[in-house]
Amino acid sequence: MTTQRRILAFSLSLASVFGTVESLKTKETQTYTCRTFGSGIVQPFQGESYYVRSDCPFTLTSFNVNQGEYSVTIRRGHNGLLVQVEIVLNNVTTLLQDGHVVVKNKSVSDPCDQKYQHIFKYGIYTRLKSSLLPFSVTWHSVCGGINSLWVTLESELNTTTSGLCGKQNVAGPRDELIRDSKLHDHKCKTSSPVLQKNDICRQFFQEIKDCVQIQQFSLSATL
Ligand SMILES: *[C@@H]1O[C@H](CO)[C@@H](O)[C@H](O)[C@H]1NC(C)=O
Ligand SMILES: *[C@@H]1O[C@H](CO)[C@@H](O)[C@H](O)[C@H]1NC(C)=O
Ligand SMILES: *[C@@H]1O[C@H](CO)[C@@H](O)[C@H](O)[C@H]1NC(C)=O
Repeated sequence: MTTQRRILAFSLSLASVFGTVESLKTKETQTYTCRTFGSGIVQPFQGESYYVRSDCPFTLTSFNVNQGEYSVTIRRGHNGLLVQVEIVLNNVTTLLQDGHVVVKNKSVSDPCDQKYQHIFKYGIYTRLKSSLLPFSVTWHSVCGGINSLWVTLESELNTTTSGLCGKQNVAGPRDELIRDSKLHDHKCKTSSPVLQKNDICRQFFQEIKDCVQIQQFSLSATL
């Protein structure tokens, strides 16, 4: 290699290093969040919130990366609070039940660091975070269950999720999400129609909006 060629090769490799740094910077990492509340409201990754009133177990979100299973399964009590949550991170199961956190059948007190996951206090919440992937689950416990729980994942994960949270870039039909996310259980009940509350709310807000617009109109007409 001549000196000129070496310089050229060197500057090319520099350019590719800077190019990578640049593309890493410009490629935005988007965070997707899905929440559920004690009332039965589910706010999926994309689209409007909806309502599921059921004591059946449901998959909230589920995906696979490098042959490892990742999922969050929920079950509500009759009061709507989450009474059982099963979180699987890279095949390791963590159970949230009766105010306890149980990892691999052993009760743990938070904060707790394990090989591929960390459990820690996050303000009034508790968070379980994967150390392998940009994925976390955060919850708030009250007497009788969990009244708020959310999962976050980042776009760089580049995987397709299923469950009540839906897919990251798609606002899928709610009734399909609910049907496909329900886990098998003979004894549980889902009250139907599950989408009613949202429609009632929408109608209610539309009415208020119309009412306000009419008032504004009549006000400006009298001025
Ligand atoms: C997870 O479990 C599945 C099925 O049991 C297995 O095929 C896979 O190798 C496991 N993955 C890891 C990362 O342990
Ligand atoms: C956890 O306990 C259940 C029964 O309570 C048992 O079936 C399962 O094999 C146990 N798992 C581990 C990893 O010990
Ligand atoms: C995401 O995964 C798909 C297929 O699994 C692949 O075609 C695509 O290039 C990946 N995108 C990124 C940004 O890694």
